[in-house]
Amino acid sequence: MSAIELCAGGPRLSPIVAGAWRMDSWGWTPAERLRWIEQCMDLGTTSFDHADIYGGYTVEALFGEALVLAPALRERMQLVSKCGIKLVSAQRPAHRLKSYDTSAAHIIASVEQSLKALRTDRLDLLLIHRPDPLMNAQEIADTFARLRRDGKVLHFGVSNFTPSQFELLDAACPLSTNQIELHPLHLAPLHDGTLDQAQRLKRRPMIWSPLAGGRLFTADDDAARRVHTALRAVAGRLGSTPATVAYAWLLRHPSQPVPVAGSRRIEALREAVDALSLRLDAETWTEIWQAGSGHEVP
Ligand SMILES: NC(=O)c1ccc[n+]([C@@H]2O[C@H](COP(=O)([O-])OP(=O)(O)OC[C@H]3O[C@@H](n4cnc5c(N)ncnc54)[C@H](OP(=O)(O)O)[C@@H]3O)[C@@H](O)[C@H]2O)c1
Repeated sequence: MSAIELCAGGPRLSPIVAGAWRMDSWGWTPAERLRWIEQCMDLGTTSFDHADIYGGYTVEALFGEALVLAPALRERMQLVSKCGIKLVSAQRPAHRLKSYDTSAAHIIASVEQSLKALRTDRLDLLLIHRPDPLMNAQEIADTFARLRRDGKVLHFGVSNFTPSQFELLDAACPLSTNQIELHPLHLAPLHDGTLDQAQRLKRRPMIWSPLAGGRLFTADDDAARRVHTALRAVAGRLGSTPATVAYAWLLRHPSQPVPVAGSRRIEALREAVDALSLRLDAETWTEIWQAGSGHEVP
């Protein structure tokens, strides 16, 4: 599985990224976490997605504890992290309420903390986690330039930005990606300009919760039941699995999405990787879209 560029001159990531958000709930020892990292990498999934706040500010350190057992892995992996959300947490007693902060001081402090926790000297990609109504694009651009100059972060992007928010910041400093939610139960980016912009600017979107956090298979509301039934039907016809079809549905979009898988199971990651060689035709893609939307195309 060869690496892809998120955009021209942007970070080179694996075409499926492994998400670490849920790692604190896995209850693993450092050696077990290292085994998971190695198995991901053996499958070709060499990029790992983090955020300062995951696990209430604990996941980066859990990952770093494992990485320090095999530090040579760092040269073969890519680390993505995020900043800009402040949680109320025992780990951050100064935070009075959940809020956003994209000031230079907060971004720099957050990156320093991420580097320490992950036991690394650099991030391959840093994302602003959520659009901050008070963000000052020039201040963020200057901060990104400083982090790049210091060799602490190699590339920058955003997450959950609207097209106009993306444009605002991209004009001040070129962004590599917008990491967004997309799956058959969340179709908005197909219609609100987010994926049009990604395709036009040739910035491959990263896709979080590609399986709707498991709801594609576990929820029992009408929409989820329709999607699950459609995924099973398509998988049966194509000799594949419902999860692989769900990933293939994302990968079929011409903006060339890069899914961030959230499972602890290596078998689930393998199902994601398998989707790289499964191309859905437009009718099959529409069948799944229709299951999610609940109506046929106009
Ligand atoms: N930028 C953002 O705002 C943002 C927001 C959320 C997440 N993220 C990133 O995106 C990553 C992925 O998000 P996610 O964890 O929600 O992804 P996901 O892959 O949609 O969901 C993973 C969850 O679904 C379960 N699952 C997977 N396959 C299943 C199946 N066949 N049947 C039943 N359950 C199944 C997993 O359980 P098992 O582990 O047991 O398989 C896990 O709990 C995160 O780790 C994080 O890095 C970013």
